[in-house]
Amino acid sequence: MTLPRVTLKLATSLDGRIALANGASQWITGPEARAEVHRLRAAHDAVLTGIGTVLADDPLLSARIEDEAPDQPHRVVLDTHLKIGADAKILNDADGGPVSVFCGGSVPVHMRAAIEAKGAQVIALNRFDGPSISFKSVIERLGETGSRSVMIEAGARLAGAAIRSGLVDVIEWFRAPMMLGGDARPVFDSFGLERLDEAPIFTRVAIDECGKDLWERYEKADG
Ligand SMILES: NC(=O)c1ccc[n+]([C@@H]2O[C@H](COP(=O)([O-])OP(=O)(O)OC[C@H]3O[C@@H](n4cnc5c(N)ncnc54)[C@H](OP(=O)(O)O)[C@@H]3O)[C@@H](O)[C@H]2O)c1
Repeated sequence: MTLPRVTLKLATSLDGRIALANGASQWITGPEARAEVHRLRAAHDAVLTGIGTVLADDPLLSARIEDEAPDQPHRVVLDTHLKIGADAKILNDADGGPVSVFCGGSVPVHMRAAIEAKGAQVIALNRFDGPSISFKSVIERLGETGSRSVMIEAGARLAGAAIRSGLVDVIEWFRAPMMLGGDARPVFDSFGLERLDEAPIFTRVAIDECGKDLWERYEKADG
């Protein structure tokens, strides 16, 4: 089976933080970077996020580009316990692409039906990474159903899980010239590394200015 190409999009302060300790995060990067994110969404078959981001930001995850009608990516939420509310914007937006919510196999049928009634597909998995459904299984399933490219836009938990999985091929990193300090929320949760030679390594393949921000692209290093 061919796995989709997996891109991780990150928008951080210069010191790699995504929000203040109190959660305030909008907006760290500028309008030019946000416009590029919409172009990136349109260029991917699927855009994937975690329930943490849905509950915190209530995003649409659609591609919105001025004076254009861009391709709309399949929108995917990882939500083990199906905590997403029927009123989540992503479930109530006819303009974006189709929505799939992946949950654990023990979620009761009536809960799945309430989300399916909103027009979303609910996919139950019985493979787990610790307490959450298996990231790799989600990516495999997306590949099986025709996605060739997937972009992750998520918080520290899912972004960290994606890097730890070894399945991230590309990182699109938008970095604002702002410092948030060690009490702010980091871009990844813990890796639990004890040796530097265990650290995931990427190669920088492009660097551009994007308004006041930097836009760096990294690809997974060989070996
Ligand atoms: N700057 C950026 O680029 C950016 C982008 C997006 C979001 N954010 C910020 O990130 C914050 C939210 O971060 P977060 O860490 O709470 O949320 P998250 O990473 O978006 O979602 C994490 C949740 O996804 C679920 N999940 C399901 N399968 C998973 C798996 N295999 N691995 C990891 N998680 C899995 C887990 O809950 P269950 O186990 O219950 O399913 C987990 O708690 C918000 O403040 C938001 O603004 C920043």
